[in-house]
Amino acid sequence: GLPARVRIHEVGARDGLQNEKATVPTAVKAEFVRRLADAGLTTIEATSFVHPKWVPQLADAEELFPLVSGLPVALPVLVPNQRGLDRALALGARRVAVFASATESFAKANLNRTLDESLAVFAPVVRRAKDEGVHVRGYVSMCFGDPWEGPVPAHQVVRVCRALRDMGCDELSLGDTIGVATPGQVRALLSLLAEEGVPADVLGVHFHDTYGQALANTYAALEHGVTTVDASAGGLGGCPYAKSATGNLATEDLVWMLSGLGIDTGIDLGRLVATSAWMAERLGRPSPSRTVRALGKT
Ligand code: HMG
Ligand code: MG
Repeated sequence: GLPARVRIHEVGARDGLQNEKATVPTAVKAEFVRRLADAGLTTIEATSFVHPKWVPQLADAEELFPLVSGLPVALPVLVPNQRGLDRALALGARRVAVFASATESFAKANLNRTLDESLAVFAPVVRRAKDEGVHVRGYVSMCFGDPWEGPVPAHQVVRVCRALRDMGCDELSLGDTIGVATPGQVRALLSLLAEEGVPADVLGVHFHDTYGQALANTYAALEHGVTTVDASAGGLGGCPYAKSATGNLATEDLVWMLSGLGIDTGIDLGRLVATSAWMAERLGRPSPSRTVRALGKT
């Protein structure tokens, strides 16, 4: 069966904007986050405390975070290491996310470490965050396919998920970074994870929509008991360190499907569409979301 309620983890301000060619002014980012909160999103990933040379689009994290930290929503931020955690904690962040990969190639490309080296970096980061009472999400990228390695064996995903859980991550997010997964693969991975002691209630799903499969994959995950779904307003997104990654599942497309299914999200779709239309104007190109295009015509 399907869940009665789904929590949407909004990633547009982070996953979306990290991949924009143009640098978006900090005040526009803050306005974007405020509007997302107004539209009813309760978990809004705000930015990343990564190396500013690696992701110049988010180099203003120190300026942005204080502009939004008073909002009555959860504002997770990405931290790749101790330095990132220091920066986030110094600004009062209460939710952080570390980000691992199921493949060696992407660990190297994204974090400049082998997979095991990256896990060794995360362990003390997670421990310290938990000691400070901070909620920790653990991303696992390339759960289905990898641009360098091709199809990713599910046991590699299981290993990384278990390592992140053993470190103390409160929740995990399964990333289809390049958007190649199909629903059968999603079902198979979730079944294997459940067998291996990683139940659906600690999992979120994070689908990029490269091949138009994100919504179908989400439906398969919902049928499997997953209730946390990552999405980005207007379908913004991608990863600068993974060629062929495009935007995430659009939050509007997700809300349209969920509300049709009678699943509660607490989101005002009209306000959300208006926000994405406003952001698309700032970015100078139309939103790729079908729902934004359909409802945004005035
Ligand atoms: P590195 O070059 O190996 O860094 O990069 P290092 O540890 O050798 O340190 C070198 C210098 O960087 C040092 O300075 C550090 O202090 C500094 P120095 O002593 O030479 O003056 N430094 C930092 N400065 C500020 N903030 C920091 C930081 N860390 C080190 N946090 C590093 C390693 C991890 C830093 C780099 O690879 C990095 O920042 N990577 C981030 C890449 C990224 O953000 N990718 C996108 C997010 S992941 C994603 O999009 C996927 C996801 O959406 C899920 C999915 O779709 O699958 C989550
Ligand atoms: Mg992503």
